[in-house]
Amino acid sequence: MSWDTISLERSDGVATITVDRPDSLNALNRGTMLALSEAIEEAENARVLVFTGAGEDSFVAGADIGFMQEIGTDEAQAYAELGHEIFRAIETHDAPAIAAVNGYAFGGGCELALACDFRVASENALLGQTEIDLGIVPGWGGTQRLSRLVGDAVARRMVLLGERLDADSAAEVGLVDEVVPQEDLERAVSELADELAEKPRFALAAAKEALNQVHEMPLSAGLEYEQRLWSGLFGTHDQREGMAAFVEKRDPEFE
Ligand code: COA
Repeated sequence: MSWDTISLERSDGVATITVDRPDSLNALNRGTMLALSEAIEEAENARVLVFTGAGEDSFVAGADIGFMQEIGTDEAQAYAELGHEIFRAIETHDAPAIAAVNGYAFGGGCELALACDFRVASENALLGQTEIDLGIVPGWGGTQRLSRLVGDAVARRMVLLGERLDADSAAEVGLVDEVVPQEDLERAVSELADELAEKPRFALAAAKEALNQVHEMPLSAGLEYEQRLWSGLFGTHDQREGMAAFVEKRDPEFE
């Protein structure tokens, strides 16, 4: 499958999905969102997902403002649902997802990064939930995921004031995990992706699922859920292999 504004590249289990609308700083219009959704479906069997933006200035400069300017409540609701569906698909994907934040990550761009498990930023990255200055609020998960990741106080500054954070400030509050010079971003992301791709995939999926439940379940239910996931991994090839490799003092060969 090919799309005008999204590309999907695969290499050794790593699927890299690039938003490619450089004339609009990779803003997400409806067509791009539909293509993004299809690309994620097509990457179903990937061991790791990487999301980035084309060019050197922008990751994703948000939802498309030209499109949003023209729509009313019903269409806005449908656009919100589309975004939520896609970002939830990333969040609940078996494979861990990495956002390679290579510039502006505003509005929906910041929300795309928030739906990922890891965020690696280049030094020129600037992140913000800037919707307030457009007369709206974050509509693709920003009010919920941002607060859970960086805490209420920082989220309030970003969402209510539209405060933008440069890469180092974003790292200080935990909004990004790592900051690297722009020329090193691809290498840094690729190293992280390769490390993840070598992990036992079912255990990795279970770990991601369990961590996601922290925000969904009360502690008692989460602890029970963890036990079921944990015991469910026994008998899998990777559990047997991982433990045998340890005992035999060799590197494991996971599926
Ligand atoms: N939607 C649609 N088009 C966008 C866009 C968006 N979210 N962000 C940028 N663009 C377009 C601009 O309209 C411009 O198009 P043009 O060349 O046809 O005029 C092009 O991308 C370049 O943007 P420009 O504003 O000229 O670049 P800049 O370097 O001066 O500023 C930003 C970059 C990111 C600071 C600025 O574009 C911006 O604030 N964008 C909106 C970000 C935002 O609020 N996103 C949240 C949306 S919910």
